[in-house]
Amino acid sequence: MSKHHKKSKHDLGFGIDIGGSGIKGAPVDLVAGEFAEKRTRIATPQPSTPDAVAAVIGELVDAYDLPKHVPIGIAFPGPIHHGVISSIANLDASWAGVNLPELVESATGRHSAAINDADAAGAGELVYGAAKHAEGVVLLATLGTGIGSALFVDGHLVPNTELGHLEIDGHDAESRAAESARAREDLSWAQWAERLQRYFSTVEFLFSPDLIVIGGGISKHHEEFLPLLDLRAEVVPAELRNAAGIVGAAWTAAND
Ligand code: BGC
Repeated sequence: MSKHHKKSKHDLGFGIDIGGSGIKGAPVDLVAGEFAEKRTRIATPQPSTPDAVAAVIGELVDAYDLPKHVPIGIAFPGPIHHGVISSIANLDASWAGVNLPELVESATGRHSAAINDADAAGAGELVYGAAKHAEGVVLLATLGTGIGSALFVDGHLVPNTELGHLEIDGHDAESRAAESARAREDLSWAQWAERLQRYFSTVEFLFSPDLIVIGGGISKHHEEFLPLLDLRAEVVPAELRNAAGIVGAAWTAAND
């Protein structure tokens, strides 16, 4: 049985999702897989340097009365190799080389684990949501400012897949198919679905997933675009929606 198919070691966790515009945190009920209290959102500081973001993380944790042993899970919008940020598309460039759990531990005095934001959302969906206990090859894609990807094989995560940055038709895929491209170019649902079709058929050709879960805030409008896609894999919207990153990060830190 894989890690993501087991019961959590703790009942309470805390998750933080770092995004380009907001940093969100909430205590997480790890039995139910939902927020234990209302989420808090603080605008991402500009510039979004590590020190400025660490101060916001400290503020988010201090906003709740958390028992000292509760670890802090961080979902970060870039690849993280054993805690260290390697590159970053949508936050300040000074993040490269930073050890994120160490930064969070010195800002909060608590144990911390960090994971890519799409991997965190994928973990949330696999443990509690649309891919609960799914076997085989599962791909979660988050459609937001960028495109995040999480790949699981029989419940085991292959971390940092970064499939939003596949080069398709000479473009970085997320620059054409992310939700931000739909908004920026004012695409209709049908026009955006064509971009998604091109993107997901490439991903499907390369990885042959059994199940594709579509996450990100836009997944609440899934009826507008998912029926327009023609793929071999089963395609479903995320169930935890925007909570998935926070819940999955909290779960990851609690089971580190
Ligand atoms: C980053 C990924 C991230 C995704 C969603 C991409 O630009 O490279 O690491 O998961 O955006 O935030």
